Amino acid sequence: MHITIRVERFNPESDAKAYEQSYQVDVTAEERVLDALIEIKRNQDATLGFRYSCAHGVCGSDAMRINGREGLACKTLFKDVVEKDGDVVRLQPMRHMKVERDLMVDQTCFFEKYRHVRPYLFAKDDASPAVAERLQSEEERGVIDDATKCILCGACYSACPVLDERPSFIGPAALVQAARFVQDSRDQGLEARIDVLDSQDGVWSCDGHFACTRVCPREIKVTKLINQMKRQIKKYRADRGEETAEGS
Ligand code: SF4
Ligand code: FES
Repeated sequence: MHITIRVERFNPESDAKAYEQSYQVDVTAEERVLDALIEIKRNQDATLGFRYSCAHGVCGSDAMRINGREGLACKTLFKDVVEKDGDVVRLQPMRHMKVERDLMVDQTCFFEKYRHVRPYLFAKDDASPAVAERLQSEEERGVIDDATKCILCGACYSACPVLDERPSFIGPAALVQAARFVQDSRDQGLEARIDVLDSQDGVWSCDGHFACTRVCPREIKVTKLINQMKRQIKKYRADRGEETAEGS
């Protein structure tokens, strides 16, 4: 197929605002958007800025908007975004993060919020000192299975409509990471994370739009995990005779 790749370009050092640039490429239905970007960079325009590393859906570094929807360039096949000769694929950088250049965004705010949830194990102190490992049953491991799949690509953060209105919202990816540890049978860290999670910028900002769940390239049930944490927080507060920050 002969198609047009239309890229939203912006170099903060030289451009007053973003503009679109079109490239003509021949692609097959089974090729990936990333293949076309590499071809353009090598043979048409070495100045085009985009980021990738593993090229196999593992590192999460090539998330972008493809025809208006967040996805990984290395996992998106042309047969899923175009139908025939002359069709256009529009590529834009992710939202809610500052554009560094073209399709590359500055993920500093995204990772700062990730660190806020303290994404590491607060191990339960009831394990015997003689036990070298804190073991987990298959069922206990199953509880955190979905959340462990997150590759921190930022697609959900870009798609989230709450962040349009409330940039201070911690965002879906950080909440997935919180769920990964809060729901871990070996963790006792809800208390250490409660102020971040039980706040208007925490779980209560989520209105359940499901935009995150729809775009997640790892098919994580993001909204479901956030709702589970809302219930955990309510129970935590109720057990202590306290109110949650919901509605505050
Ligand atoms: S939850 Fe999904 S979309 Fe969000 S950062 Fe993780 S892998 Fe990416
Ligand atoms: S390049 Fe690593 S996920 Fe696409």
